[in-house]
Amino acid sequence: MFEWKDIYKVDIAEIDKQHRKLLEIGGKLADLLKLKDDIDHYDEIVEILTELREYTEYHFAHEEKLLEKYGYDNQSLRLHKRQHKSFVNKIIQIENQDIDEKQTGIKLTMLEFIASWIENHILKTDHEYKDFFHENGVY
Ligand SMILES: [Fe+2]
Repeated sequence: MFEWKDIYKVDIAEIDKQHRKLLEIGGKLADLLKLKDDIDHYDEIVEILTELREYTEYHFAHEEKLLEKYGYDNQSLRLHKRQHKSFVNKIIQIENQDIDEKQTGIKLTMLEFIASWIENHILKTDHEYKDFFHENGVY
């Protein structure tokens, strides 16, 4: 489900590396979801959720700083940041739910979250800055 595909590449080494990390986190979560046992996975869910949150904050900050540094178009930057913000808000929402009560639901919500990030953000909004960075010599 979360295998790296070439179409994900924006051909900027550091960003591709960070996006791979997102897929790695998604993979861990998918593995956890595959387990059909009756064991309580609360601790693992919280661990992955924390990792996802820290990764998200780190990655978005990195991307935004780079876009600003090279003078990305203001309007596009605003839209880009708005999308980042709504992803962060979504994580906060997930964190505020009662994880103990709804473990399966939380895992599915997290999977949907990552899938939507890839589909709606990496493949669309992130790809829009590809040429911009390349024109500025950033690979
Ligand atoms: Fe982005």
